[in-house]
Amino acid sequence: MKILIAGAGGMVGRALTEHCAQKGDQVFSYDHSSLDISSAVRVEELVAAAEPDVVINCAAWTDVDGCESDEVRAFAVNANGPENLARACRKVGSVFVTISTDYVFDGTKDDFYTQRDNPNPISVYAHSKLAGERKAQQEHARTIVVRSGYIFGAGGTNFLSTVVDRIRRGERLKVIGDAWGTPTSGKHLAVRLRELAELDLPGIYHVVNSGEGATFESFSRAALQLAGCEQDLLESVSFDSLNRPAPRPRNSKLKCLVSGLVGLGPMPSLRDGMVEYFGSKVAKHTETGQFSA
Ligand SMILES: NC(=O)c1ccc[n+]([C@@H]2O[C@H](COP(=O)([O-])OP(=O)(O)OC[C@H]3O[C@@H](n4cnc5c(N)ncnc54)[C@H](OP(=O)(O)O)[C@@H]3O)[C@@H](O)[C@H]2O)c1
Repeated sequence: MKILIAGAGGMVGRALTEHCAQKGDQVFSYDHSSLDISSAVRVEELVAAAEPDVVINCAAWTDVDGCESDEVRAFAVNANGPENLARACRKVGSVFVTISTDYVFDGTKDDFYTQRDNPNPISVYAHSKLAGERKAQQEHARTIVVRSGYIFGAGGTNFLSTVVDRIRRGERLKVIGDAWGTPTSGKHLAVRLRELAELDLPGIYHVVNSGEGATFESFSRAALQLAGCEQDLLESVSFDSLNRPAPRPRNSKLKCLVSGLVGLGPMPSLRDGMVEYFGSKVAKHTETGQFSA
């Protein structure tokens, strides 16, 4: 396939670029410095020049607290960005795949969120991401929206990806023990993004590692156990004690109603994703005497 990837410098963008290259695709990878998705002109120019079979958008302004105080920038990137890419795809007849978030839900449900649940965003970030889903779908019928959450992997700066390194440095960490999500390996997400692009069946898909999900605390403890680290430096705190600029959903566990129906296999388990990722960090530590992702 001929694939154009936006946001290729980010955690998922890097995993996807690597996976598509391994699959033998012709890949046009653009990081933020070479393609700003909020520029309609630049997006149209690059998509028209490449005429790809598919465009996969991994770009977003992912600083949830930053978005809360800069709504204009959040919507320029997270809402207008996907819209610009979708429009450019329509003009050249490409499939468009864009990543959204579990944060489109308000977190008040006790069970998994599926495509039957109405989104109800509670932060600027989440509002901007939901607007991105809808604008892209309105602009181009061949749009595939992929909601995921709690993504971990190499090259990321999020909490889940750095917990082992921080504990190794002797940092004391507060982790929430009463908020739930479905952590997802960036590598496994990348594989599914490409499968969905090949399928070319428009709609909304929930893509997370299989299993019952986790709290930040249970996920962190499992990661430390895999990495052979002590757990004494982890302190369990309650969701309500957090005082961050942007509200988060207390529960954002996702389940997909349609992936099995369209012939996709189950996603690998969270345990498999963790063993692959944290196991490789352990191997590096053993070889070199220090941790690195
Ligand atoms: N990480 C998670 O836990 C999580 C959970 C749910 C959904 N998601 C979604 O998954 C997708 C991938 O996220 P990620 O985890 O890979 O995040 P990431 O590591 O922050 O990657 C996002 C990339 O987008 C780039 N970017 C920001 N503004 C841009 C713009 N205007 N034009 C082009 N590129 C721009 C960033 O570049 P700079 O850093 O140089 O600005 C960064 O390289 C996003 O849609 C995100 O909303 C992530």
